[in-house]
Amino acid sequence: MSRKILLSGIKPTGRVHIGNYFGAMKQFVEMQNDFESYVFIADYHAMTTVQNKEQLSQGIIDIALDYLAIGLDPKKVVLFKQSDVPQVHELTWIFNCITTMPYLMRAHAYKDAEAKNKEINVGLFDYPLLMASDILLQDADVVPVGQDQKQHVEYARDTAQKFNNIFGSTDSTGSPRVSSPQVGKENGIFKIPEPFILKDVETVPGTDGRKMSKSYDNVIPLFATYEEIKKAVMSIPTDSKGVDEPKNPDESNIFAIHKLLLNDVEKEALALRYKNGGLGYKEAKEGLIASLEAFIKPIREKRAMLSGDLETVFDILKEGGKRAGMRAEKKMEEVRKAVGVSVY
Ligand code: TRP
Repeated sequence: MSRKILLSGIKPTGRVHIGNYFGAMKQFVEMQNDFESYVFIADYHAMTTVQNKEQLSQGIIDIALDYLAIGLDPKKVVLFKQSDVPQVHELTWIFNCITTMPYLMRAHAYKDAEAKNKEINVGLFDYPLLMASDILLQDADVVPVGQDQKQHVEYARDTAQKFNNIFGSTDSTGSPRVSSPQVGKENGIFKIPEPFILKDVETVPGTDGRKMSKSYDNVIPLFATYEEIKKAVMSIPTDSKGVDEPKNPDESNIFAIHKLLLNDVEKEALALRYKNGGLGYKEAKEGLIASLEAFIKPIREKRAMLSGDLETVFDILKEGGKRAGMRAEKKMEEVRKAVGVSVY
């Protein structure tokens, strides 16, 4: 049996941190072995907010380097950029025409922007349908996303169903099918995708104890230099307990970050050292710095190597774009026939 198709998009939104890694990026790399995987850089989605040439170009290159450096393997995954598959815009238009405004007005992202009195561009409003096109064009079975994107996958499901209902019930000559077709991939043009919610087991705390987030300025960059690692760890606030005093590892932010980098045995051993007393904060921080450096150094070096050879990276993206583009074109041929614009 052929493997299920996985597809996900990543927005190029600047420097990634270990919160992004343990929260989501890592899982993509793990899943590449189990699915026929398509991962793309959602550059046109980014344009709803990024409207600066250098920033967008650099963002695209950076995110490609990030994912290749952490182990996304172009032999296993079709890695491409959305803008190399222009068929998504053609499909988005068709979806625009079968979708009502009130339905799109129910989107969380739209409602949030509206509640904050933001100026809302048409791209932001239409974002869910561009995303539906990404997903449906590639016949995705599974769409791994964070919890915040679940509603978007539901939009894709609804839209697939709606399209299948409207256009799936006629055969290629335009006459209605005899039996009423059941909705779903058996009869419809589009497969109904499933969201796969990335586990949020790893809510990674930042250096100040709040969730790690760029907006809190509490991040440890995923590709941090040694100096940056040191600086970030040293900025973690601690209480005034002396070296010999027992400490509760579950209350320590140093431990909360450190445990992400340890296996179960190591984690237990370190927790014991906190509990027994004798481990001072200085030593605890030095230990964390060493663990972070051990984890980051190889991927930092791999990233540096790749960034010195951008041609290879571009070739990977171009090749991925070709493969994804071919699939998209094949699907669009069916779609154009179904809606009636293909007359010859
Ligand atoms: N909206 C997603 C995000 O912000 C990115 C994205 C765009 C995506 N198209 C997609 C994710 C298709 C999954 C499938 O993270």
